[in-house]
Amino acid sequence: MLRNRSLHFYGKILRPSKTNPSTINTMMFSRNTLLAAAAAFYGASSVSAFAPSTAVGNTVSRSSPAIYTQQTASRQYSSTKLNMSSSVDLKGKVAFIAGVADSSGYGWAISKALADAGATIIVGTWPPVLKIFQMGLKKGSFDDDSTLSDGSKMVIEKVYPLDAVFDSPDDVPDEIKNNKRYSGLDGYTIEEVAKAVEADYGKIDILVHSLANGPEVTKPLLETSRKGYLAASSASAYSAVSLLQKFGPIMNEGGNMLSLTYIASEKVIPGYGGGMSSAKAQLESDTRVLAYEAGRKWGVRVNTISAGPLKSRAASAIGKEPGQKTFIEYAIDYSKANAPLAQDLYNDDVGNSGMFLCSPLARTITGVTLYVDNGLHAMGMAIDSESMSDRNQ
Ligand SMILES: NC(=O)c1ccc[n+]([C@@H]2O[C@H](COP(=O)([O-])OP(=O)(O)OC[C@H]3O[C@@H](n4cnc5c(N)ncnc54)[C@H](O)[C@@H]3O)[C@@H](O)[C@H]2O)c1
Repeated sequence: MLRNRSLHFYGKILRPSKTNPSTINTMMFSRNTLLAAAAAFYGASSVSAFAPSTAVGNTVSRSSPAIYTQQTASRQYSSTKLNMSSSVDLKGKVAFIAGVADSSGYGWAISKALADAGATIIVGTWPPVLKIFQMGLKKGSFDDDSTLSDGSKMVIEKVYPLDAVFDSPDDVPDEIKNNKRYSGLDGYTIEEVAKAVEADYGKIDILVHSLANGPEVTKPLLETSRKGYLAASSASAYSAVSLLQKFGPIMNEGGNMLSLTYIASEKVIPGYGGGMSSAKAQLESDTRVLAYEAGRKWGVRVNTISAGPLKSRAASAIGKEPGQKTFIEYAIDYSKANAPLAQDLYNDDVGNSGMFLCSPLARTITGVTLYVDNGLHAMGMAIDSESMSDRNQ
């Protein structure tokens, strides 16, 4: 059945739902501020088979000459009929969302939208923030942000510790094993988590990569070390490749993977440094190559959403110059001043678009970067620029 959330796709009313008015606020700024701000951004640390649903109308144009030219000897015409419905029903589908540790970010919103459509939600959480997230869940700290369209609360069935910079146990260095933030935990490498998920659920249908980390994000690329650059790439781009390598074999045909990228991959966003722009460019290129490889190998789709700025926890934690706004605050304000749609962007907007890409409605969409950013990506001029002030009057 079509829930309210899903209607957003059809209604063309990308009206934000309620989450986080504070996120409402979220790119060319004063360099120092941006450098600081970008840190927060990421550096803060750091469908079973989506078989087509039911019948659709009689839109088959059997007499179309175009169709006739495509006839084969064995079939008189290729049917253009796809059994469809206007609803999204993900009941019976299992979604693993990597990179959820609170309710402010995109991973949470995508989880919620998928849960709203009926999917079973399991998440992977970075060990250093695992306890605080589990405590928050237990205490009901995220209840207000968990409400689904039918009034019920999203249930996260299981939280797996996951450190996406490690592929298998051999990769974990002693300094991590002995780190108190990892004490008492094991099985958090990507390979181990995939095995644990397989043991618990058998196969999954939806894999979401909603994580990034760039230890030197505050540094311009010209000042970024090899170590920092490769760390950003490892945590923010290769992690997606590795996740699909390990989870692909346990994904049902028709399933899909979704990741989150940012416009800094293709346009210069001063302040988004440390190789994070490079990592996002990798992520987008890898989306296309993985779409081809995973499509042919497992029948799995691979897409990424280029999301507009959101004051997520990671983003908010970024430093700032005294008396100035943070990177993310500048980014939100810039977007509102210059994007084609001067409206707030909520994490639920990306949640809804993510749910669409993960649903059978998008069964032929793969290898795309979908902009969910109020159209900011399309602009080539800042309309609030001082040099435009005469024209704007
Ligand atoms: N916030 C924005 O404005 C914005 C814009 C475009 C794209 N994105 C992307 O959205 C995704 C989610 O970010 P968000 O802003 O919603 O913030 P978020 O804080 O909700 O998500 C980032 C998550 O990554 C996790 N993480 C960091 N290193 C990890 C590791 N090694 N292993 C496992 N998890 C790790 C963090 O614990 C955190 O939960 C990221 O890929 C980010 O680049 C964000």
